[in-house]
Amino acid sequence: MAPIIRIQDLGKTYGSGTVALNGVTLDIEEGEILALLGPNGAGKTTLISTICGLIEPTRGSVTVGGFDIRSQYRQARSLIGLVPQEVLIEPFEKVGANVAYTRGLYGKPPDPAHIEKVLRSLALWDKVNARTLELSGGMKRRVLIAKALSHGPKILFLDEPSAGVDVNLRREMWALVRELREEGTTIVLTTHYIEEAEEMADRVGIVNKGRLLLVEDKVKLMQSFGRKVLTIELTEDMAELPEGLARDGLRLESGKLVYEYDTHAERSGVARLISDISAAGLAVRDLSTEQSTLEEVFLDLVEGDKAREATT
Ligand SMILES: Nc1ncnc2c1ncn2[C@@H]1O[C@H](COP(=O)(O)OP(=O)(O)OP(=O)(O)O)[C@@H](O)[C@H]1O
Ligand SMILES: [Mg+2]
Repeated sequence: MAPIIRIQDLGKTYGSGTVALNGVTLDIEEGEILALLGPNGAGKTTLISTICGLIEPTRGSVTVGGFDIRSQYRQARSLIGLVPQEVLIEPFEKVGANVAYTRGLYGKPPDPAHIEKVLRSLALWDKVNARTLELSGGMKRRVLIAKALSHGPKILFLDEPSAGVDVNLRREMWALVRELREEGTTIVLTTHYIEEAEEMADRVGIVNKGRLLLVEDKVKLMQSFGRKVLTIELTEDMAELPEGLARDGLRLESGKLVYEYDTHAERSGVARLISDISAAGLAVRDLSTEQSTLEEVFLDLVEGDKAREATT
């Protein structure tokens, strides 16, 4: 199946001279959840806004559902719902009317049943006649989501959906996003909460300084960049590492052996280590392993990018 979004060599330099996007190429598959991670100012919002046709790129092209976002703007835009990062809503408008109005902007006929369904799914139905200025920050964010869903888009962009949102609402939002995915909606989200990407995404893209450092299946990403740490507790705490055990990746920490190894190395060396331990006449009391988290993988990549830049 052709990708639902094709981004080719996308570049954006703002009038101020800031290079916000620098040659981003990416295919987004229909029905996937893609999470974009990156530090402040990396270019995530610029990337999303450009795909949604709100920002004119300096170079490159984007098609959405096969429609060019510039020459076929209306067709492309009608497939998209966008929840922007900034909360900007008409303060005096009532919630229900506001969401229904947004649907109209997409040229869709009124559909009160759909609006009701969306508001109910966001626990906003009891606020249908409230004015947005009467809502809390988290509720306003939900109104933004309702507006983005008002016309039943095929693709939903969520730009930091959980900034300023409490833990319960975040979980509810994740559930809603999963439900939308089940219904076939493609979802692109940006987040600073690695946990969110870890929890939700099928693929993770890492953006830094206007470039897409990598985009990878989440599970594969954790496997191929992840390191594992094996902690071995012996029946007696060890004062120093016996010579026969010394090897790369092995250290002593509060009397325990800590062995760090690459998960993608051909041989982990774990079997060898265990047999050397017993050859040294030591007995193992307990073993535990820990895999590096997406957060560690992310920090490694972004730090590595910085270090590379410093040397070139
Ligand atoms: N309208 C604008 N005019 C000039 N520069 C801009 C504009 N919008 C963003 N920038 C700059 O472009 C770069 C990328 O900004 P962008 O908002 O895309 O980052 P982001 O990854 O979304 O960051 P955050 O995580 O803080 O939301 C930054 O250096 C920012 O200062
Ligand atoms: Mg942003």
